[in-house]
Amino acid sequence: MSEPALIPVLSDAEVREIEEECAHLPDRKSAAIDAMMIVQRHRGWVSDESLGAIAHLLGMSVENLDSIATFYNLIFRKPVGRHVVMVCDSVSCYVMGADPLRKQIEAHLGIGMGQTTDDGRFTLLPIVCLGACDKAPTMMIGEELIENVDGEQLDDIFGRFG
Ligand code: FES
Repeated sequence: MSEPALIPVLSDAEVREIEEECAHLPDRKSAAIDAMMIVQRHRGWVSDESLGAIAHLLGMSVENLDSIATFYNLIFRKPVGRHVVMVCDSVSCYVMGADPLRKQIEAHLGIGMGQTTDDGRFTLLPIVCLGACDKAPTMMIGEELIENVDGEQLDDIFGRFG
C-alpha cells in the first residue's frame, strides 16, 4: 500500500497515466522517463516533491530517479517558461553556424543560456543533436523542431509562440 504522505503530491490524472505506462512495461522502473514526462506535461517541470512521489510510485530510490533525470535533458528540474527553446550545439549544427545563431537568439530574447525571459515566455537551453543534422542549424521550441534556422527570421519564428 502506498504511503499517504507521498502519493497525494501527484494528481489522480498523473497517477492514472503513469499506471497506464507501467501496465505496458516489464517492471515499473522502466517507466521512469515516461512518468517524469507525464508529470512535466501537467506541471511544466519536475520539482523535488514530484520526483519523490514518482520514485515512490515506481518503487525506486529518489537518487536513482534523479540521476536518470540528470542524464535526460528533456526533463526540467527547475521551473521553465511557457516555451522551452533548445538550440542544438552538436557538430553539424556548430559547423553550420550554431554558435553565432545562439548569440543572435540570446540577443533577440534578452537572456543567456539557462535563463527565462522576464515575461515567463521562453527558457533557453542547449541540447545535443536533434537528429536533423542535414537541416542544420536546428532548434526546438516546445515540441516543434525548427530546421535550417535563419537568424534573420527570429522575429517570425518566435512570434508564432505566444
Ligand atoms: S548536430 Fe544539430 S541536429 Fe544533429
